[in-house]
Amino acid sequence: MTRPQGLDNGLTDYGDADFARFLRRSFARSMGLSTALLGKPVVGIAMTPSGFNNCHRYVPDLVDAVSRGVLAAGALPRAFPTVSLGEVFLNPTSMVYRNLMAMDTEEMIGAQPMDAVVLIGGCDKTVPAQLMGAASADLPAIQLVTGPMSTGRHRGERLGACTDCRSFWAKYRAGSVDGKEIDTVEGRLSVTAGTCAVMGTASTMACIAEALGMSLPGTAAIPAVHADRLVAAEESGRAAVALIERSIRPSEVITEKSVENAFRVLMSVGGSTNAVIHLAAVAGRLGIRVSNARLNAISDETPVLVDLKPVGDGYMEDFHAAGGMGALLRELKPLLHLDTVDVTGRTLAERLAEPLDWVDRRMIRPYGDPISPVGGLVALAGTLAPDGAIFKRAAATPALFESEGRAVVFTGLADLAARIDDPDLDVTPGDVLVLQNIGPHAAGMPEAGYLPIPRKLAQAGIKDMVRVSDGRMSGTAFGSVVLHVAPESAIGGPLAAVRNGDRIRLSVSKKRIDLLVEEAEIRRRLAGSVPPPKPKRGYKALYRRAVLQAPEGCDFDFLRGEEA
Ligand code: FES
Repeated sequence: MTRPQGLDNGLTDYGDADFARFLRRSFARSMGLSTALLGKPVVGIAMTPSGFNNCHRYVPDLVDAVSRGVLAAGALPRAFPTVSLGEVFLNPTSMVYRNLMAMDTEEMIGAQPMDAVVLIGGCDKTVPAQLMGAASADLPAIQLVTGPMSTGRHRGERLGACTDCRSFWAKYRAGSVDGKEIDTVEGRLSVTAGTCAVMGTASTMACIAEALGMSLPGTAAIPAVHADRLVAAEESGRAAVALIERSIRPSEVITEKSVENAFRVLMSVGGSTNAVIHLAAVAGRLGIRVSNARLNAISDETPVLVDLKPVGDGYMEDFHAAGGMGALLRELKPLLHLDTVDVTGRTLAERLAEPLDWVDRRMIRPYGDPISPVGGLVALAGTLAPDGAIFKRAAATPALFESEGRAVVFTGLADLAARIDDPDLDVTPGDVLVLQNIGPHAAGMPEAGYLPIPRKLAQAGIKDMVRVSDGRMSGTAFGSVVLHVAPESAIGGPLAAVRNGDRIRLSVSKKRIDLLVEEAEIRRRLAGSVPPPKPKRGYKALYRRAVLQAPEGCDFDFLRGEEA
């Protein structure tokens, strides 16, 4: 039986389908729609403007442009709201609500009458949430990102959120920038609509969405305020209508091969550690798993080619002007699966067969002359992280890659805040800062894994130390930071057993992070651990019951797809 199209899709259950259709059409007409439009196929537009999401300030303009494209292609656009997650406006962290937005997106795609959907997101957790929801709903879908911010200026220097937010804050903590200047900088970091201006999580996820084939080719890096962003929106609307005809579903676009392509892109852009979690969650919705061993193999074979902050010098607007994803994918071509299909129905081979207009080699290096011959991220394992951890070698200090130090332990965020700047803190530059209890169960996995350098060391000129936690760090951050330690300390991971003065060894060459304490002693210490109290009601109770660890993308156990 062919599925009904347009507003006839998924009629409300009144026990009388003709009445349900009559009532729906009547109420649709109350929105001023002509009867000619009521019979058209419908493209839903998942929109996410919010007074708490600066990155999505231009979403209403994008909705207009998508609608224009849908109408021009002969279908009916219907915008609908979903949860919106503005990274810095959420407590305890937007990560807790990513799965809520994914559920909202999936359910509203499934429950409302639409034949295809355009998903408009941008800020860190919104694109993964939309891709997760779309993968599970499995209706033809196109991801449209809001695009990155343009840079600001301060005393002749270009500034962009949020790598420069962190470097200025570090200078302020070290005393080389005073209160007056930091106040001035506050107004010069985020000067337009759009997502963070560097290769942080939002930009990485935009590139990944395109590498997966879920966004239109060439659209990941177009600045938020560029006219081409509106053109991309209009074209996404048109393409969504074409997608109804072709009936290409996310499950045909997001495949094991396209996920591997996305990991290649993640490595080559020096992308965010968070993207490892998000990509695992998106792929996991379709039963696709990428092991840490495979991730490391991909990383070891894939050069870093894109010179953007926080790893390099440029900003997303430079990446776009340099040729963007089209140029990057052409350089990576020998490593990519070329028979993957994108939302236009073309294979990657067909896309990359088209000649390239221009490449700025300062921003996008040739495959044979990379910034680094190996990828930006590695998965670690060892006695401190039996199920794995992530290390962003591209943003770390090479001198610390093979190091062993004394643990200086903080038992949680409150302990960290209370003691990190204590002048009497027993800490030296060769120590390893350890932060426990910021994993998914304990704290929702906030971006607190980028522990600040203790003030007394920062003031003495120390810029980096090895830091270890079960939390995350912002994609815009940098340093020798071991993240996503699994299992997390709150559910009995060995991280909970670390005590002040224990020795910890990091070896990036061996891809290991080890606690140099006898196994029996680790077990003895863990035997006394008490799990944190569980929330009793609402979404937070559901979250604690169902959230998985970082290697499973921190998705909910009941939302993951069956492994093939
Ligand atoms: Fe939205 Fe950085 S705060 S992308």
